[in-house]
Amino acid sequence: MDLSMFPDDGVNSWNTVMLLYESAIKKVRTKVEILNDEFQQVHQYNPIEYIKTRVKTPESIVKKLKKNGYEVSIPSMIEHCNDIAGVRIVCSFTSDIYQIAEMIGRQTDVTVVSIKDYIKNPKESGYKSYHMLVTIPIYLSDKTVDTKVEIQIRTIGMDFWASLEHKIYYKFEGNAPDYISRDLRECSEIVSMMDTKMLQLNTAIMQTKKEEEERERHANGWQEKVVEGNTL
Ligand code: GTP
Ligand code: MG
Repeated sequence: MDLSMFPDDGVNSWNTVMLLYESAIKKVRTKVEILNDEFQQVHQYNPIEYIKTRVKTPESIVKKLKKNGYEVSIPSMIEHCNDIAGVRIVCSFTSDIYQIAEMIGRQTDVTVVSIKDYIKNPKESGYKSYHMLVTIPIYLSDKTVDTKVEIQIRTIGMDFWASLEHKIYYKFEGNAPDYISRDLRECSEIVSMMDTKMLQLNTAIMQTKKEEEERERHANGWQEKVVEGNTL
């Protein structure tokens, strides 16, 4: 984002910036919904269970800037706060995550700035998710602004874990007793086992369905030949 566009003049500037982040969320959401519809047409299933979006609250923005030792101002927040616009995509299976990430990355107007794969490299807490920081151009009446969006992609299982972990851990403000952190990491392992099992089951079912359809096609083909044979 070109910082010179935003003289730090308070309310006007703040509203313009927030409009950009809200617009960027809308654009990413629509893109993802279109990809989901296309996927449904091609593969006969929806990889996306649901999408959640949020704009970071002013309180959280200020807290984060202060925590990281940055000045509290609009240009500083645009530069240093990468998760003001957040889109969370919750998928059915782990394999869907990488397919969706790839499809997003291939969109010509999306620039992937960075990727953090907390599925291959989970956090110390047990947290798993695939994070993409992207920019997307927003066309205003007199200018185009590349706007940052943090996209988190995870399974329902990972989302379930992250939501509850956040709730539980929040109460301790980061100072949870050892056994709580250990048990939470263990829960994360259990969730991963379920994700693996569910993916295996889905693959097995899809395979069976495919074989059944092939058998049916075969059977129909054979019947047609008999009919042809009868008319000769
Ligand atoms: P934040 O200051 O939290 O934004 O961290 P960061 O800028 O270093 O980015 P990171 O990729 O580590 O995390 C970004 C986001 O991922 C967070 O805002 C949370 O939504 C989520 N997240 C990361 N770690 C955890 C965790 O241990 N538990 C839960 N529940 N969520 C996490
Ligand atoms: Mg964050």
